[in-house]
Amino acid sequence: MIINNKPYRTVWMENGIIKTINQLKLPEKFELVSLHNLEEVAGSINTMVVRGAPAIGGMCAYGLTQAILQLIEVDFDAILRAKSILQKTRPTAYDATHALDFVFRLVQGINDIPTLKKVALEAAEDYANLSVNACRKIGEYGERLIKDGHRILTHCNAGALATIDYGTALAPMRMAHYHGKQLHIYVDETRPRLQGAKLTAWELAQEGIPHSVIVDNASGFYMQQGKINLVITGADRIAANGDAANKIGTYEKAVVAKENKIPFYIAAPFSTIDFNCETGDHIPIEERDGKEVKEIAGIRIVGKQSQVKNPAFDVTPARYISGIITEKGILIPKEIKTLRNKHV
Ligand code: MRU
Repeated sequence: MIINNKPYRTVWMENGIIKTINQLKLPEKFELVSLHNLEEVAGSINTMVVRGAPAIGGMCAYGLTQAILQLIEVDFDAILRAKSILQKTRPTAYDATHALDFVFRLVQGINDIPTLKKVALEAAEDYANLSVNACRKIGEYGERLIKDGHRILTHCNAGALATIDYGTALAPMRMAHYHGKQLHIYVDETRPRLQGAKLTAWELAQEGIPHSVIVDNASGFYMQQGKINLVITGADRIAANGDAANKIGTYEKAVVAKENKIPFYIAAPFSTIDFNCETGDHIPIEERDGKEVKEIAGIRIVGKQSQVKNPAFDVTPARYISGIITEKGILIPKEIKTLRNKHV
């Protein structure tokens, strides 16, 4: 991703220190954060300094590697403890499991410390590069859906910030823009944390991609008015039957898109697919702090007598999804199951 005319990844490692962009400070301030140990890494995911399923996956891969690099001797109990701490940071995003298993599988059984550290470092770098390549391919395949002049709706932030680079939902839009197609992106602001307004709009602005931020409740209006040609969102976890969990409100967009005969696509790498989860009913949904609903920018907007609820994700049933844009091509949701054993 280009930020202030310089290329950046969202997560990377330099001399054993993990670096990331502080997403809590955007769009007011572009700030890099250095993470020195497991506690800081887990904290960065818990507090949403880093968020977005593939970016969490990248952070977990580097986090487990960092924990291994800090060992004095081979200690698989310590490695498993670190893996478990990182695994528990966020329940819905499946990429964390995928990333931790990827690194662990490669280091498992190595019993000399220099080799263990070398393999762990290579594993995290390989994971990051594979993840970046997957998102680039998602961009290339997804761009085929985008025609010159298209107006595209997206929800939340499934951009480069939510991945290690390129994004998932935003990758096809980036590619179309790079190839000179005229686009206009409708960006849902995405209450309560406003990732659309704060992050997606910022990313699009950095690369000069035309866009308008709309309140979440306005997307149905624009779809009904014929202003939207295509909807693309990301996903936090996709079940084997093609049901997809994504930011709360995604389900409504998909239903309204179908009602208005607008194609609705999910863009996600294979690292987001949980082949062990048969249907969306089994996807754990994170419930976040009610304060996010009770307050806007620190100002209380809900009366003290009222309770609030704050589910962070919902599940869009496969029947509303026109296709899933992956690094292996655009799949119809029911094809997912057939790929169960073909994925590494
Ligand atoms: O609340 P967040 O920021 O954790 O929600 C993230 C999303 O729902 C994204 O759309 C999703 O992770 C897709 S990631 C490319």
